[in-house]
Amino acid sequence: MKKVYIFMGPPGCGKGTQTAHLADFLNLPHIDTGALLRAEIAAETPDGIEAKRKIDKGQLVPVELVGRVIKNRLLKEDAQNGYILDGFPRSMEQTKILERIQEEIGLDVQNVAFYFDIENHALVERLVNRRSCPVCGKIYNIISNKPKVEGKCDIEGADLIQRTDDNEETAKLRFITYEEQTKPILDYFRSKGILHTINADQSIEAVWNEVKEFIID
Ligand code: AP5
Ligand code: MG
Repeated sequence: MKKVYIFMGPPGCGKGTQTAHLADFLNLPHIDTGALLRAEIAAETPDGIEAKRKIDKGQLVPVELVGRVIKNRLLKEDAQNGYILDGFPRSMEQTKILERIQEEIGLDVQNVAFYFDIENHALVERLVNRRSCPVCGKIYNIISNKPKVEGKCDIEGADLIQRTDDNEETAKLRFITYEEQTKPILDYFRSKGILHTINADQSIEAVWNEVKEFIID
């Protein structure tokens, strides 16, 4: 049975930071729907143009679009040994879509979900201070997780960029979307007995240690 690790939690809780690390640790693909959608935006595809309209308003991208993007990604060769989902599913409808895609692909999978528990008020500062590398995607924070050289990626040396949705106004809308549409699916995963709650309000290393405990378990 192949393992599928599903990471959930509010904007800025540390999903991307921890899943990138976990992907290296387990040698499994890190599938980040936000990053996949931003790649569509950068390529100016019709999906990208539609996604941008929603992302800029802090709303979920239409379910058909994100379902198509995720299915194409899960069909790739590197996802046949299991995978790590970062930011998908984000609604009950998407949860059902994931289950349907998994059935269609026919890979025998066991889903394990992680909920990064942290109060929203702690997160705006993380979001507005986030920077990332446009080449390798590595995530930094100009306060808590600085690059070695200001403004440059440690690995690629590229100029770091800021996401357009990482401003206070859009962040607040993203929190509302999370509370209304994503949080309810925690109960679904809990009822299936596959949800692990992680205290995300601690250092990056301490969060990693908690995640690792459940992975190695
Ligand atoms: P997405 O890109 O997934 O954004 P998000 O869910 O809002 O989450 P973030 O990526 O902002 O935060 P994160 O939890 O990954 O935190 P990170 O590790 O970077 O989605 C963007 C948009 O795309 C959505 O709003 C939606 O419109 C659309 N979308 C995506 N998926 C979709 C779906 N399934 N359906 C429909 N639409 C979808 O960390 C944040 C910062 O904090 C960094 O600076 C980091 O260095 C720092 N940090 C991390 N951990 C710690 C720590 N422990 N202590 C201190 N600082 C820390
Ligand atoms: Mg992320």
